[in-house]
Amino acid sequence: VTVTVNKTASHSVPSTLYGQMFEDINSGDGGLYAELLQNRAFQQVTPNTSNALTAWSALNGAHLTVIADPVPVSKSLPNSLQFSVPSGSSGDVGFTNSGFWGIKVDSSWTYKASFYYRFPASSSFSGTLTVGLRANGGTVLAHASTEVHGSTTSWTQVNLELKPASSAPDVNNSFFISVDGAEAAGQTINFAMLSLFPPTFKDRPNGLRIDIAETLAEMGPAFFRFPGGNNLEVSSLFTPTGQSTATRWQWNATVGSLLDRPGRPGDWGYINTDGLGMMEYLQFFEDVGMEPIMAVWSGEYLLLVFLLPGIEWYSLGGTSEPETNLAGFIQQAKDQINFVIGDPETSAPAALRASLGHPDPFKLRFVEIGNEDFFAASTYPYRWHDFFGNLSAAFPQIRFLATSDVRASGVGDPVLSPPAPSYDIHVYQTPAWFYENAFFYDSFARNGMTYFEGEYAVTSDGSSGIDWPTVAGSSGEAAFMTGLERNSDIVFAASYAPLLQRPDLISFEYAPPFARNLEHLADLWRSSAGSVIKSTSYYVQKLFATNVGDEYLTSTLPTNGGTLHWSVTRSSGSGETFIKVANAGNASASITFDLTQFGTVSRAGTLQLLTGGATASNTPEAPLTVVPQSSNIATGKTFTYNPPAFSVSVITTRTQ
Ligand code: AHR
Repeated sequence: VTVTVNKTASHSVPSTLYGQMFEDINSGDGGLYAELLQNRAFQQVTPNTSNALTAWSALNGAHLTVIADPVPVSKSLPNSLQFSVPSGSSGDVGFTNSGFWGIKVDSSWTYKASFYYRFPASSSFSGTLTVGLRANGGTVLAHASTEVHGSTTSWTQVNLELKPASSAPDVNNSFFISVDGAEAAGQTINFAMLSLFPPTFKDRPNGLRIDIAETLAEMGPAFFRFPGGNNLEVSSLFTPTGQSTATRWQWNATVGSLLDRPGRPGDWGYINTDGLGMMEYLQFFEDVGMEPIMAVWSGEYLLLVFLLPGIEWYSLGGTSEPETNLAGFIQQAKDQINFVIGDPETSAPAALRASLGHPDPFKLRFVEIGNEDFFAASTYPYRWHDFFGNLSAAFPQIRFLATSDVRASGVGDPVLSPPAPSYDIHVYQTPAWFYENAFFYDSFARNGMTYFEGEYAVTSDGSSGIDWPTVAGSSGEAAFMTGLERNSDIVFAASYAPLLQRPDLISFEYAPPFARNLEHLADLWRSSAGSVIKSTSYYVQKLFATNVGDEYLTSTLPTNGGTLHWSVTRSSGSGETFIKVANAGNASASITFDLTQFGTVSRAGTLQLLTGGATASNTPEAPLTVVPQSSNIATGKTFTYNPPAFSVSVITTRTQ
């Protein structure tokens, strides 16, 4: 095939085109959020149950119970860990935390350990608490100590640094606190908000895990959608304590002191600490140079059903808040937006932001009202009307996105009033669906409506769910993405989802794979040598996001529905020209590029090529199976390129 490239740009490529979609779906606590202790503050657990002790174990005969403390460390954290040393004890008696499926011990790191303690009954005891990291076989890898006195009956915080003498070969390690059993026999000590941080991204306190944050930053994202996804919904299955409106994600429960964050039963089957809260997100965006696409709750409830091992999910039976109840939720959404951009002089949420160290507003141009509200389409018209009406009046500078269905005509289904300025569209499908739908947006009306492809990914090979992104899937996604570039006059943003953990874009060591109770998968992760596994789809996202320029050049159209797709974009300033080719078929192809409209075209360019067998994947056992290869390539006013079967190529040359 010959592809003639037009010299004159048809439209600008929006700077927001490529970004990331994040929610805490096995990816915040134990993932992006660097805290190493699981169940660190006994949030949302039922005291005096074994579940309340998740991740905690007694050492050498200690008695451990999670109690509803009569003198809690804070109103938001009512539970504490009660540790008793039985009479007749000897040796080190204490307790451990196993972390999120292990703890990485790195001798180049200084760990920050902290906790609150108090003696529930005053005693004359004086002794030493040893705090440290130990291999599960018992070898102590790092330790520090502090003196404690039985007269300390009010909560007292201890901060210690742990410096391991050597790195551990695997993550089968735990955090521990112990006392001399003989000295402390008969004593009881309560502990609350125990925490262990490794160094963090940009050294932020309460910050993010460096390797994951750096991997995200390297992708060149322009935006970050948060906090969900279904994590923003109110769901009712697979949650430890059940859910109600009270347990929804609420921005104001995620800010300030960690003692003031109650956590919540997250929507994906485990408790969210909310340690990764509004300020941590916003600071991360600034650190990486991306902007938020922030969602507010729209009054929708979901019943989530999560199917294993196909990694598929359904949302069923959505119900909604009645219109008469919405006012308080709309005010909370206004407050959430004001926390991000409000004026501290006139807005209490903005003043709170200023008090937390950021008087200047953060950047915020896009706010999404709800998530996948097509599941509650019958009630979305009144919810959209009330949320959008109020929020757009208060924040006319913000573009709001609807999350119900929309037709190619740009008319909402259901029709929304006032009409939505933008829609968020999601698709989880097979490789074939993606290349067959590379022309999805070509037929959409150009009527001022813009689109956010807020979630998309190949999640199935056509017969069953996939465990890891495959080359066939990633090249199908790339084919679809060439269509997003062609239609970037109306598609202003796009993000693969989910971002972290399988079968997602990036996986990481020692956090659990999708469901935390799959022991065989957990074992795989414990033995994994690498710490971050970049999937083939990760590389596709990065190749597209970091080679895009600012203008779209039309060219001969690919065959609609075929397996071979391309797009050409250019940096107007430098003349760098990016030719992307996605071959999602099982045979190599041949394309002759005709750039004769340009005055000059560099005779040499670079080729970045990702290719492999259809089912090839990057996994913990083989994380580097398929990675992009760079090489030089002859370019010029005409040149022929033969993309291999199942491949994604970016050819960069210079045109004037
Ligand atoms: O990405 C996983 C889930 O898929 C999101 O939470 C939801 O929006 C979609 O159904």
